[in-house]
Amino acid sequence: TAVELGEHRHYMHKEIFEQPQAVIDTLEGRITQEQVLVSSFGHQAETVFQKIERLHIIACGTSYHAGMVAKYWAEDIFRIPCQVEVASEFRYRNPVVENNTLFITISQSGETADTLAALQQIKAMRQSQSSEHAANETNVPELSGISTLTICNVAESSLTREADMVFLTHAGPEIGVASTKAFTTQLVALALLLTSIGKVKRTIPESRENLITNGLQKLPNLIQQALMHEQEIIDIAETFADKQHALFLGRGTMYPIAMEGALKLKEISYIHAEAYPAGELKHGPLALIDENMPVIAIAPLDDLLEKLKSNLQEVKARGGQMIVFEDERSDISSDSGFKVVKATTNVGRITAPITYNILLQLLSYHVALIKGTDVDQPRNLAKSVTVE
Ligand code: G6P
Repeated sequence: TAVELGEHRHYMHKEIFEQPQAVIDTLEGRITQEQVLVSSFGHQAETVFQKIERLHIIACGTSYHAGMVAKYWAEDIFRIPCQVEVASEFRYRNPVVENNTLFITISQSGETADTLAALQQIKAMRQSQSSEHAANETNVPELSGISTLTICNVAESSLTREADMVFLTHAGPEIGVASTKAFTTQLVALALLLTSIGKVKRTIPESRENLITNGLQKLPNLIQQALMHEQEIIDIAETFADKQHALFLGRGTMYPIAMEGALKLKEISYIHAEAYPAGELKHGPLALIDENMPVIAIAPLDDLLEKLKSNLQEVKARGGQMIVFEDERSDISSDSGFKVVKATTNVGRITAPITYNILLQLLSYHVALIKGTDVDQPRNLAKSVTVE
């Protein structure tokens, strides 16, 4: 193939280790040390961002999980209302579309059939509602201020051709079916997008913009540090080989990261995995906990840590095997019955989900390696789902 494996056994492994560079390439020319460059979203971006009042993100698979992380960021940090849904649901539920909405489609390939159809449907609605209004035939109000933006890793693709605005992730070609570096760069793109919107709409102060850009500049290094935990993760993966189920827990942005971790494990190791927001544990999944059900918790040092810790005690009390990814300054490790990877330090609200996800990628990869599955081409799956 054109893309060489080099020292790596699989493309997935290679792509996991390419992430620091993929982030550098995606940031290149889009930020300075202190500021985001709004114009990297196109010359009309400033005018569009000024007008929009809400975001609606549409994607599939791993790209959908990137959208879910962005929803937490959008509302918490930038105070912009945001909804996110999978394209196949959006298409067929006859959604109410509101004025001044920015529709964001996210896709590695730019060819996913449902995502493309959703984008075409939005454009058709915009078209027909404005012509109906012009003809004055119905009392459907005119739809105004609808714009579409696609975040995509392939410059010449169906989605980039359809969207009003395009932002390219510069992850480089992704060969492994299970998405890794594309996801990471989608999150970087979304952080840049939200910061740009927040800047234009003045929902964040300049000091916040400076903090975010500084954090993003440090991200390649944070990812590099996360990758250095590979050996510890290999040791943990060994305890997985005979398991049939796994439960991933997180709160806040770590909930979609838990979902992405569970998806990766399913995709490449064929172990049934589920993700739950940790607070929902007692509403069902706790009944499943025993020594055969490993629980993976993502526990950054944040406002929710104490709440998460009490969830973990509930798991421990039921004999569950706990694997915790935590901050170096956290103290869950002092407790027995937990396998702990002290993986991060100094991550912020934007960089944390991106950094913790790297650890989960490594975990799935090494579990799959032990199980001997076809890591780069898992059974029944395709890199790009171009038919419905
Ligand atoms: C397939 C791939 C996933 C990917 C999803 C969406 O299911 O196996 O890795 O996340 O499609 O693809 P897209 O190219 O739209 O991001």
